[in-house]
Amino acid sequence: MPGSQHLILLLFLLLLNSGSAKIHTKSLRPNRHHPFLSNQTQAQLVERQFMRWVNFVGGLKHSIFHRAMNKVFPSFTLIVDKNPATGDFTTIQGAIDSLPFINLVRTVINVNAGVYKEKVSISAMRAFITLQGAGADKTVVEWGDTAETPGPNGKPMGTHDSATFAVNSPYFIAKNITFKNTTPVPKPGAVGKQAVAFRISADTAAFVGCKFLGAQDTLYDHIGRHYYRDCYIEGSVDFIFGNALSFYEGCHVHAIANNVGALTAQNRMSMLEDTGFSFVNCKVTGSGALYLGRAWGMFSRVIFAYTYMDNIIIPTGWYNWGDPNREMTVFYGQYKCFGPGSNHNGRVTWARELTDEEAKPFVSLSFIDGTEWIKF
Ligand SMILES: *[C@@H]1O[C@H](CO)[C@@H](O)[C@H](O)[C@H]1NC(C)=O
Ligand SMILES: *[C@@H]1O[C@H](CO)[C@@H](O)[C@H](O)[C@H]1NC(C)=O
Repeated sequence: MPGSQHLILLLFLLLLNSGSAKIHTKSLRPNRHHPFLSNQTQAQLVERQFMRWVNFVGGLKHSIFHRAMNKVFPSFTLIVDKNPATGDFTTIQGAIDSLPFINLVRTVINVNAGVYKEKVSISAMRAFITLQGAGADKTVVEWGDTAETPGPNGKPMGTHDSATFAVNSPYFIAKNITFKNTTPVPKPGAVGKQAVAFRISADTAAFVGCKFLGAQDTLYDHIGRHYYRDCYIEGSVDFIFGNALSFYEGCHVHAIANNVGALTAQNRMSMLEDTGFSFVNCKVTGSGALYLGRAWGMFSRVIFAYTYMDNIIIPTGWYNWGDPNREMTVFYGQYKCFGPGSNHNGRVTWARELTDEEAKPFVSLSFIDGTEWIKF
């Protein structure tokens, strides 16, 4: 986000805060010019302030250019096949490396059925790539690096670089393909076993009918606006994590934790960041005892709406990452969820069952400016 936008946002927030400060003072010293404030309870005030905040974040447009420049019509189609006789390339990385360093047209890479044992990375200027598998159960890309695997310089590569498949360019689309990290579920307390299956570190990416398989840290939903539809995501701890602004629709999230796991670790770090994860019409199943989320970022933001939750959800639902201060700044909510794990009664007091009005900004594609750029 450019500096000027930050500044505008900051001014806006200052205005917002000064407004609420005024109301707060008035409620303490009721004055006859505003009689409606005199009988307002503190709870109503907090609620009003909250609603104002919801409307504010829900009303944000996230585009830098306020105009998406997606390109849908495929200009090139490449075929990847294990058999050199039937495709243009035998590896996905081979196909990607054949593209110009700066790619400006929609390029479809069809990946025929097979298990591709390779680590793949798409560089930042190679935009508009569509990766199309033959079906998520037929086309699989897998590798097995962890955060402690030595990198090129001999030092541990870290979580970020452990990804089997890493995308750093905008307007990426993936359909009907599986991304997998083969590292097994680590023992409780094990260090350095984070093993990313897929990392998306760019804006405007869409995923349909994909599977993300791993254990700890499966899907690094790093930065940018992302759309996941009809996807399957499996893992144990923090298996959807990062600081993206993402909309998960109709996805199946499956925990394979042996004991305690966590579904999300959203990393929103300040008031000024409008990132967060929204799960709508999803399904949460699996093993172990699962937190819906842990507050990796001080201002972590996650909501689940119209989502089925199996009886694996820890009743308190959310974890403050060992820092009680975060309870005041995170935003965790549920809206019209169902199933044995969805009961909101046992949830931490700092999570919310959202009202219709509060849920509104989070349950439609406008959460990620979807109508602007989601095109298949
Ligand atoms: C608050 O005061 C207004 C105006 O006097 C009145 O119409 C309203 O019913 C009151 N609300 C409550 C909750 O007492
Ligand atoms: C691709 O994914 C979509 C969405 O999940 C699904 O409806 C479709 O059947 C899949 N196609 C194949 C070939 O697997």
